Amino acid sequence: MKLAIGNDHVAVEMKKEIREYLEGKGYEVINVGTDSSERFNYPVSGYKVARMVADGEVDGGILICGTGVGISLSANKVHGIRACVCSDPYTAKLSKQHNNTNIIAFGARVIGIETAKMIVDEWLNAKYEGGRHQIRIDQIREIEETQHLKAAEE
Ligand code: RB5
Repeated sequence: MKLAIGNDHVAVEMKKEIREYLEGKGYEVINVGTDSSERFNYPVSGYKVARMVADGEVDGGILICGTGVGISLSANKVHGIRACVCSDPYTAKLSKQHNNTNIIAFGARVIGIETAKMIVDEWLNAKYEGGRHQIRIDQIREIEETQHLKAAEE
C-alpha cells in the first residue's frame, strides 16, 4: 500500500516518526512535506497530498500541521478529497468506516506520538462499510460538484 505524507514546519519531527513507523510496517510512504524548521505554508503540502490521492497515485494520505486544521481544510478543497482531522483513534476508524475518508490529519501540537500511531493504525486497518453510508457520500459529492443539494430543497 502506497501513502503520501505531508506536513508544515511545526510537524517535522512527528512526520518523520510516523513515516518511519509506517515504513517499518511495510507501507511505501512518499514524503511531500517539509523537513526543515523554516516557516512552511501548510496549504502547499495539503494540496500536494490531496492531488496525489485524488489522482490515484497513492492509496491514502496523512497530513500533520500544528492542529491538523489548516492542512485538512486545504486538502478538502480538492475535488474527491474527504480529509478528517482527529485527535482520537475512534474518530479515525469511524471516519473510514462511515465517511470513507481518504486522508487523515492530526495536530503535532495537540496529540502525542503514541496517539498519532494509534490513529494511523485504526484508520489504515478500517474498511469503508458502504451500504447506507453511500447516499451521504454521494450527497457530499453533489455539494462539491454543484454547490447545491437537491435533498435540501423544501
Ligand atoms: C502554524 O503556526 C500553524 O498555524 C499550523 O501548523 C496549523 O496549526 C494550522 O492549522
